[in-house]
Amino acid sequence: MLKIFKPCDFHVHLREGQLLKYVLKENNKNFQKILVMPNLIKPITNKNILSKYRSFVLNNNNNNTEILFTIYLNQDCSIIDLKNMVNEKLFFAAKLYPLHATTNSSSGVKDIKKMSKYFEFLENNKIPLCLHGEHIHENDDPYEREKRFLDFELSWLVKNFKGLKITLEHITTKDSVDFVKSHKNIAATITTHHLLENTNTFLGNFLRPEIFCKPVIKSVNHQKSLLNAALSGNSKFFFGSDSAPHLKNRKFNEFCCAGVYSTKYSVSNILELFYTSKKSNNLNKFLTINGCKHYNLKFDNTLISYSRKKDFTFKKYSKFKNDSLINYNHFKNYWSKN
Ligand code: NCD
Ligand code: ZN
Repeated sequence: MLKIFKPCDFHVHLREGQLLKYVLKENNKNFQKILVMPNLIKPITNKNILSKYRSFVLNNNNNNTEILFTIYLNQDCSIIDLKNMVNEKLFFAAKLYPLHATTNSSSGVKDIKKMSKYFEFLENNKIPLCLHGEHIHENDDPYEREKRFLDFELSWLVKNFKGLKITLEHITTKDSVDFVKSHKNIAATITTHHLLENTNTFLGNFLRPEIFCKPVIKSVNHQKSLLNAALSGNSKFFFGSDSAPHLKNRKFNEFCCAGVYSTKYSVSNILELFYTSKKSNNLNKFLTINGCKHYNLKFDNTLISYSRKKDFTFKKYSKFKNDSLINYNHFKNYWSKN
């Protein structure tokens, strides 16, 4: 048996409409806080869009989960509008996507260095900046994008905005682990699938479209570095699932979209990982404390018991309308709430 605080997921995609209702329910079961990403088909770039989305989410939320909203920061955002939203506490963090980096990023930012007035605004108002950390440039290798982002964009950002609180999202490389460790005011989220998979399990034998995501899964050496960072309990690293639902007919398709839906079994997978690595003592740090510390959030420290069910039959697909969602799972054993 393991006893932990109810976990937090500091990076999740709820989507919209009926799908949101379904996905939010699964989040309610598992998490005390979630940080919700703004990359809707029409991204959340202003107060009007955010207010509608907030009402829809909050009306469908079971109140035990605290929802933290993000705004989609791009060159079309208005500082006055942002100021109004900050005064009304409508969003918690700003998310920046480089142009064409990932799903729904066609309104993303082409040149981060032209965004200084927004970074100053965030810094002055103590709003965290969450980054999709990939440098996107024609013909650059997808495996190099994260490293190049550190060199071209992130180094510039931390040098010029020393008071800005930054979260480097879903890191996949040793380079990012080292960068985050050696700079102030920056922490990183790590996903379940980047901890548990590598290029061999992704495409070394058969290609597994269900774990195709951005940033793309890296080699075993990078994976080891992520594992060390997460399992060590280092306060700069915490859980953000990047659970990103796409319907099966969009994943198993001529053009497979990027994103892994992991919410259903993510807590179980993380528990099994820490348990089998003999690091259960650091579970609360990775799943709750480190993220809350980074974001200055209070958390519920009621303990919840989970027990281990051996050789559990996992549900690979969850029916949704005429299609299904593909549930990511890695292990044979399942940790269920008592
Ligand atoms: C995410 C999605 O589908 O919204 N996809 C992904 O591959 N991770 C977007 C993102 O976080 O990059
Ligand atoms: Zn994401």
